[in-house]
Amino acid sequence: MALNYQVMSDLNYLTYPHYHSRVIAVASGKGGVGKTNLAVNLGLALARRRLRVALLDADLGTANADIVLGLHPRYHLHHLVTGQKQLSEIIVEAPFGLKVIPGASGLPELADLPERQREQLLHSLQMLDGLVDLLLIDTGAGVDRKVIQFIQAAGEVLIVTTPEPTAITDAYAMIKILNSYHVPVDIRVVVNNARHREEGEITGRKLTTVAHQFLGRQIDVLGVVPYDDMVPRAVRAQSPLLQSYPRSPAAQAITRLSEQLWTGQLPAAPQAELGGVAGFLKRILSFKSEPAE
Ligand SMILES: Nc1ncnc2c1ncn2[C@@H]1O[C@H](COP(=O)(O)OP(=O)(O)O)[C@@H](O)[C@H]1O
Ligand SMILES: [Mg+2]
Repeated sequence: MALNYQVMSDLNYLTYPHYHSRVIAVASGKGGVGKTNLAVNLGLALARRRLRVALLDADLGTANADIVLGLHPRYHLHHLVTGQKQLSEIIVEAPFGLKVIPGASGLPELADLPERQREQLLHSLQMLDGLVDLLLIDTGAGVDRKVIQFIQAAGEVLIVTTPEPTAITDAYAMIKILNSYHVPVDIRVVVNNARHREEGEITGRKLTTVAHQFLGRQIDVLGVVPYDDMVPRAVRAQSPLLQSYPRSPAAQAITRLSEQLWTGQLPAAPQAELGGVAGFLKRILSFKSEPAE
């Protein structure tokens, strides 16, 4: 399949004059399951195919996508929010042209920002709609209200789990919570750290089966990423897996996953209706007055 994303994104502009970026949150119930590694390398895999991708590091507690990428950003989201810097000044270029918006550990949660800073953030970040085809968001772990709101605002989420029973239970808890609100979210599961394909498939099937049986909800498994020693090795070297070990099993699995995620088709109508980055931001900021609980 020839994936000429540049042509596709130009076509998108023609088809949708007000073309909006697709916004996808990467989340997990349990921490340490591989969200950041998936978000970073998925972003790189898509950027390598000429898709214009930005990665927002929104794990506000422990922002670390920049570390995995070996970047040393001088500025981050905090400087944008306070109006000290423009979006173009905080964005850092990663390999393959991936754009990284560094998070700020300890940044007050976006929805709780004072009015003026919220406006500032909205104004600066919505420019991304013209700049990127996809905004990937690395969120914090857990079913914290803020994380759930991020996911609801994005409209699309990849829930990362491992085959460990605790991770599966927490992933299911997250799916259940997302399903309990009347906010439509497109949920897909990624199984990481599988020791072999079968283990990954069984894990995915467990989740899809319980979701179907107890929630009456159809959930897709986007793919399985194997446990691979090259992942921690790349992290230690602060050189992203897709760049340093592109032929490693995990890198190849993530590349396949990226093709599943973005088949080169035009965005489906519901995605266009979500209103891109601008729509995402408006929803996030509106949650202040409308708590999700
Ligand atoms: N597929 C994998 N194979 C081996 N180790 C992995 C894999 N995915 C992640 N890891 C390791 O697991 C740890 C947690 O990964 P990370 O992406 O930071 O998780 P999270 O963002 O969910 O907290 C890291 O040390 C990373 O190297
Ligand atoms: Mg992380």
